[in-house]
Amino acid sequence: MLAYLYLLLGELIMKTHDNELHLDTKSFLVSETDAKGVITFANEDFCKFAGYSLNEMIGRPHNIVRHPDMPKAAFADLWTTIKAGKRWRGFVKNLSKNGSYYWVYATVFPFKSCDGSNGYISCRRKISDMEAEKYTALYKQMKSEEK
Ligand SMILES: Cc1cc2nc3c(=O)[nH]c(=O)nc-3n(C[C@H](O)[C@H](O)[C@H](O)COP(=O)(O)O)c2cc1C
Repeated sequence: MLAYLYLLLGELIMKTHDNELHLDTKSFLVSETDAKGVITFANEDFCKFAGYSLNEMIGRPHNIVRHPDMPKAAFADLWTTIKAGKRWRGFVKNLSKNGSYYWVYATVFPFKSCDGSNGYISCRRKISDMEAEKYTALYKQMKSEEK
C-alpha cells in the first residue's frame, strides 16, 4: 500500500515538473491543410501527440497546436516560404490539448490535391535533446525581442 502511494506521488511529481512529451525515432506526425491553413487531415501519430481526435482537428485552423513560446517570426517565415511554392523546414514546439508540449522538426510543403485544390502538408520528426535546448534558448530570445 505504502509502495503504491509512493509510486503515485512519484508520478504526480514527474507530471508537475515535466509535461514534455517525447517523440520516438519511429514517430512520424503528418497533417494536411487547405490554402488558408485549415486542417483537412491528420494522421494517428499527430492526433496522439496533439491530444485531439481526427474529427476534432478537421476544420480547425492549424494554430490550435501553437505553443505560446513560439516566436511570431518562425511562422511568418513558414508562410512566406510555402506561399512562394517552396519547402520550409524548422524546429517547432507544439502545445497538446492537455497543456503538454512536444518538439518536432517539421518539413512543410505545398501540394495539389486530387480535386485540383491547393494545400500544404507538414511531416514532423523527433529532434535531439541538444537541438531542443538550442531552440528553447533561441526562441526565448526571439520572444523577448518581440513587441
Ligand atoms: C501544413 C501546415 C502545418 C502547420 N503546422 C503547425 C504546427 O505544427 N504548429 C504550429 O504552431 N503552427 C503550424 N502551422 C502554422 C499555423 O498555420 C499558424 O501560422 C501558427 O500556428 C501561428 O498562429 P498565428 O498565426 O495565429 O499566430 C502550420 C501551417 C501549415 C500550412
